[in-house]
Formats: sequence, C-alpha cells, structure tokens
Amino acid sequence: MSSTVLHGLAAGYQPERADWTVDQGWARYTAQEHATWQTLYARQSRLLPGRACAAYVQGLQALPISARQIPDFAQLNEVLYRRTRWQLVAVPGLVPDEVFFEHLANRRFPAGNFIRQPHELDYLQEPDVFHDVFGHAPILMNPAMADYIQAYGEGGLKAQRLGFLAQLARVYWYTVEFGLVQEDGQARIYGAGILSSASESVFSLDDDSPHRIAFDVERVLRTRYRIDDFQESYFVLRDLDQLLELARIDFTPLYRRIAGRPELEPGDVLPTDTVLHRGCGRYHQDRPPAP
Ligand SMILES: [Fe+2]
Repeated sequence: MSSTVLHGLAAGYQPERADWTVDQGWARYTAQEHATWQTLYARQSRLLPGRACAAYVQGLQALPISARQIPDFAQLNEVLYRRTRWQLVAVPGLVPDEVFFEHLANRRFPAGNFIRQPHELDYLQEPDVFHDVFGHAPILMNPAMADYIQAYGEGGLKAQRLGFLAQLARVYWYTVEFGLVQEDGQARIYGAGILSSASESVFSLDDDSPHRIAFDVERVLRTRYRIDDFQESYFVLRDLDQLLELARIDFTPLYRRIAGRPELEPGDVLPTDTVLHRGCGRYHQDRPPAP
C-alpha cells in the first residue's frame, strides 16, 4: 500500500537513506511485540484454511514464517529471492509514492518493521510487519504475482507522469490488497489486505453484503474504493495467471479510453459486469459514503 500521507512518521521526517530503507532491527523486538505476532498469526491460521488461495498457502509453508515470532527478513529473503528474485526491505512507515514504485520496479517490497499495538489488533491505517509479511510475502513466491507487482512499480512511475496515478492505484487496491480469485469454482482470497484481517477474511467471502464481480481492468480503473472500511465490491480473477496479462498490457490506451468517463462508486453494479454474487449492501447502508 502506498500513500502520500505518512501517518506514523513525524512531519518533516528525514529518511536516513535516499530509498527510505532502514535495518529491520530484529533483535530489538520485545517479547510483547512477538506476542502480538503470535496472536495475529493464530487468529488468521484458524480462518484461512478454505479461504486463502492455494498459491498463498504454498508460499506461507515454503517461507520461514512461524507462529512463534516476527520473522527475520534476512532469513525470509534467502528463500524468497531464490524463488522469484524478490526481497523484502524494511521501512519505518509509509513511503512516498515514487520511492515505493522504484522499490517495486526493482523487485524489492517495502515492509514496515514495526508491529501494531495490542489495542489496534483489528484495524490500523498504516501497514505493519504483520500486514506486509504475513499478507504480502507468501504470494510474492508466486511467479505471476512476482512479475505483476514489478510491472505495477514500473507502471506507477509512468502513471505519475501521465496524471493517472489515482486510477492505476485502484488496480493495485483491488488486486494486490483486496483481490479474490476463482479456484475450483469458488472465490478464494489472494489480497494481502484481506489475508491480514480477521474480520475481512470472513466478510469478503462469506457475507451477503458485498458484491463479488469478475475482474475487468478498465472497469476497475474507474472504480473508487474505501480506504477505512470493508470493501463494497470485490473483484475476482479467473486465475492468478490473469495477473501476467495485466503485467504485460500497455495502460496508456486504457487511460485515454477512461479519460472523461464517469467514476464509479464502490458499490455500483453495471449491466456489463459479470456478477458472481450480487451483494445486498446491508453492511454499508448506514455508513457514510466513500471519501
Ligand atoms: Fe499492503
């Protein structure tokens, strides 16, 4: 997740290094911080069987990520780099968009080195080590996702120049963070924002409220999203290899096509959509509209 708003870092924060990376500082984690990891890990481990996609489960099993403690990025990177040439780099909080894209374009995933406080187990605005490592790292072991996120980094730099970053960011949001994928005729989770959230792991798949709609890139480019709540619509890939198609297409003609067309609200359903589940919308009925 990227943002131009740096929530956890003091205004005027000056990074030590130009690429904003820091040492993970694994030895500095306290027993309380490892205990928070244990709680989050145990909760997701109960929820994810039958909900997470197979590629995620395989990635989690292959990486040195345990229930016991916050993982050491150096150990993770040995396995991850060997498989897909990706590595995690530690950052102290959200980083500026161009820094984020530059890392992704070079197959480095910026991961927060801090963990949420015990009173923030269910929601935090800034991605921490649990979100970034438990949510993102396993799926980076998948070759399609590995190529897709690199292409997104390259595409992000280009979209910034063309003035379509807000539109491209929606594609990242509805895939890498909140994506679902068809598997054996069922929707399964591959988005890190869902995989690292107990309540959304259930809501996204099992609740009647949200729509589940077949992914269509041009449609998603126009679709706004909720940053602070469950999604009103989830977009479902045919399979993870669809990400390879997304990694290879030139977005410039798509930007031209959507320019001037109306934006779509998070809960809109179009006659052209392939709707897998039409949500009743109950959850969001009494909530404020998306910002
Ligand atoms: Fe994320």
